[in-house]
Amino acid sequence: MMTESENERLTRVGPGTPMGELLRRYWHPIATTVDLDKDPVRRVRLMGENLTLFRSDIGELGLIGERCPHRGVDLEFGIPDAKGLRCPYHGWLFDTKGRCLEMPFDDRIRENKSNRERMNIEGYPVEELGGLIFAYLGPQPAPLLPRWDLLVRDGFDRGVEIHVLPCNWLQCMDNSADPMHFEYTHAALGNYTLKKQGKPPAMKISRHIKIAFDRFKYGLMKRRLLEGENEDVDDWTVGHPLLFPNILAQGSQDAPTLQIRTPIDDTNTLHIRYRTQRRAEGAAPKPMKVVHEKVFDENGKIVADKVPLQDMLVWIAQGPISNRAREHLAASDTGITLYRRMLNEALDAVARNEDPIGIIRDRGENEPWIDLHREKETLKPFESKYKGLLSENDQMAVPGE
Ligand code: FES
Ligand SMILES: [Fe+2]
Repeated sequence: MMTESENERLTRVGPGTPMGELLRRYWHPIATTVDLDKDPVRRVRLMGENLTLFRSDIGELGLIGERCPHRGVDLEFGIPDAKGLRCPYHGWLFDTKGRCLEMPFDDRIRENKSNRERMNIEGYPVEELGGLIFAYLGPQPAPLLPRWDLLVRDGFDRGVEIHVLPCNWLQCMDNSADPMHFEYTHAALGNYTLKKQGKPPAMKISRHIKIAFDRFKYGLMKRRLLEGENEDVDDWTVGHPLLFPNILAQGSQDAPTLQIRTPIDDTNTLHIRYRTQRRAEGAAPKPMKVVHEKVFDENGKIVADKVPLQDMLVWIAQGPISNRAREHLAASDTGITLYRRMLNEALDAVARNEDPIGIIRDRGENEPWIDLHREKETLKPFESKYKGLLSENDQMAVPGE
């Protein structure tokens, strides 16, 4: 059982908190290229910090402080410039590192420009990969941005679904180490939701016979054996890597997906569902589609008739920050226990000023991409058992997160 302070240690993400410091050792996606192309200046909130993301007129990305140091205008309203971002009030100009380059009226009438440096604001590294824009808020030198296979490889079409969830990031991640929930969150709740809509049940799911978890270089792998499967053939397989600290990888070689849970702050999470599909031979590439979806309908309800919404419902239903001091972990929670142990080990590593698990500094390891070894997964259970419940779109993804 966890104490309240242990729960705080694992969940709070602000600057100076243990988990905030651990999470700042990793890159986090904060926007998509498609969205930034539509509007090159955007407000971002990441791990409790309000920031301004922009693309300059010559295409450089910047992530700088929220407000102009002159008289506090929100730089979300700034004007992109070849050299950076200009405040719309009196034209102070900041480069992609947050350095104040111009104070137009002062520059005109004052000889001494030495006070400019005092006007610098924060600036963080930003990189673009696979249509996502990643930020790094931690100490230098920054590690490499992981080149997960599906972000990089040619021959795939890509799409992103984004939800803002009113709950702590760790609730989404606990769920990723909890295969058994599929029987109830997806089958039972899914069928109940359909029943309320006057529709027949869509899924009959086999029971989990056993589950197991393995540590690997970037996090942990799950196994499950379902009723009717044969452990000696290939059903007791390794798959669905949980990538430290906040990513679930799913899917097949032809349709790999990621679910990335970027902490907005302690009680809100940016959920990015990154989906890919291998392109048919000779087919023209499709432009990346980005959809911002609402979790709640117009009545303030979550209608759990789709797999992702079923997961989101149970995460949100645990409250803004689940009170783990009141949990009673059971036999289905062995993966959660291991994941939390690994989080605590990573927190300890950061306290010793060491790199935590999954930090990549070797280009040879990162390039051309990191293969997540999905070929070890079997897709047979997905084909046979989950058909019907999933919308056409969902069929790109293998369930089981
Ligand atoms: S408030 Fe930004 S330049 Fe004056
Ligand atoms: Fe799920």
